[in-house]
Amino acid sequence: MTSFLNSRELDVSIRILSSGAALPEKILKNSDLEKMVETSDAWIVKMTGIQERHILSDTESFSSLTLKAAKIALERAHITAEDINMIALGTSTPESIMPSSACILQGLLGIKECISLDLQAACSGFVYALVTTYYFMLSNPNIRYALVMGCDALSKITNWSDRATCVLFGDGFAGLVLENNPQAKSPGILYCGLGSDGTGKSHLNVCWGIGQGYEKSNETNHYIYMNGREVFRTSVNYFSQLILDSLEKSKLNFEDVDWIITHQANIRIIHAVAEKLNISKEKLVVTLDKHGNTSAASIPLAFNHLLEEKKIKHGDKVMFVGFGAGYTWGVVIFQF
Ligand code: ACO
Repeated sequence: MTSFLNSRELDVSIRILSSGAALPEKILKNSDLEKMVETSDAWIVKMTGIQERHILSDTESFSSLTLKAAKIALERAHITAEDINMIALGTSTPESIMPSSACILQGLLGIKECISLDLQAACSGFVYALVTTYYFMLSNPNIRYALVMGCDALSKITNWSDRATCVLFGDGFAGLVLENNPQAKSPGILYCGLGSDGTGKSHLNVCWGIGQGYEKSNETNHYIYMNGREVFRTSVNYFSQLILDSLEKSKLNFEDVDWIITHQANIRIIHAVAEKLNISKEKLVVTLDKHGNTSAASIPLAFNHLLEEKKIKHGDKVMFVGFGAGYTWGVVIFQF
């Protein structure tokens, strides 16, 4: 990991107080995809584990669902929007080029002033936002509360006539409230690390961007391109190595960690990692069956699910492992 910090050696408590999530109302099932491209429910379930995904409709917007998720997280943290000093939002599909989605959220929440920024690290975007916020909080105690969001509308950059990719993706909006409270009993975040390798670009990308000008955009280059086999192989290797490295650097064992939430791309990737590392599948949270791959939203959606199902207890240790286009990656281990 290029950059990592083992905070167990620091006397701080930056902890996750709550989560919130919002999903579009429209559910696209595998049986609906059977009518759109040459595929089958059986193939999709066997090859990916995905059964359905939520897709933004014309009556919903990125901002409205981001706002909904943020409000739920604030309510559950028993704080108000005015308490928030920072918003960091991971996304690759912002509603507008400017202002940032985080800044739009600040305005919608009615916060007079706070730091707001978007982080673009594809499917690692949420972990990048979380680690960035953590470092901000460490260096500035005036940041008492922060909202860390992972929001993506991948349906907008999916080629719905390409069966190799359109069965994989969905839209999701989720986030957390972080608190910096030196008096708190829980140590909160114990370890975090980030890294990237830009040579992965050829295997997973949306190769058109606004910096090239609208005239360069065409029917193929503004959609997700993926070399599925290569990304599959690379993901399994990275997830496995990231988990091992992070445990070593944080001086924790597998038994110390109660829940491992990897980016939700494909059940076969998650199971391959579990087998490679001999991890009990019960520790690995899976929500991709209902959400598909929601990029930056997948980890906070899965954590939110764990909380809503009341599976997680205070004191449990949780590991977030992000990996995505770039390639980019990031890990956070915390005590809840
Ligand atoms: N329905 C039916 N058949 C299909 C479909 C589909 N939707 N898509 C591909 N096929 C066919 C292919 O045409 C091919 O047929 P052929 O053997 O007659 O040529 C066959 O299935 C195998 O195709 P492959 O693309 O080689 O299949 P693969 O085993 O690689 O599985 C998959 C494809 C599921 C996409 C896999 O590569 C994968 O999961 N990759 C990981 C990618 C991923 O999850 N990416 C998410 C973004 S990355 C991230 O989030 C980190």
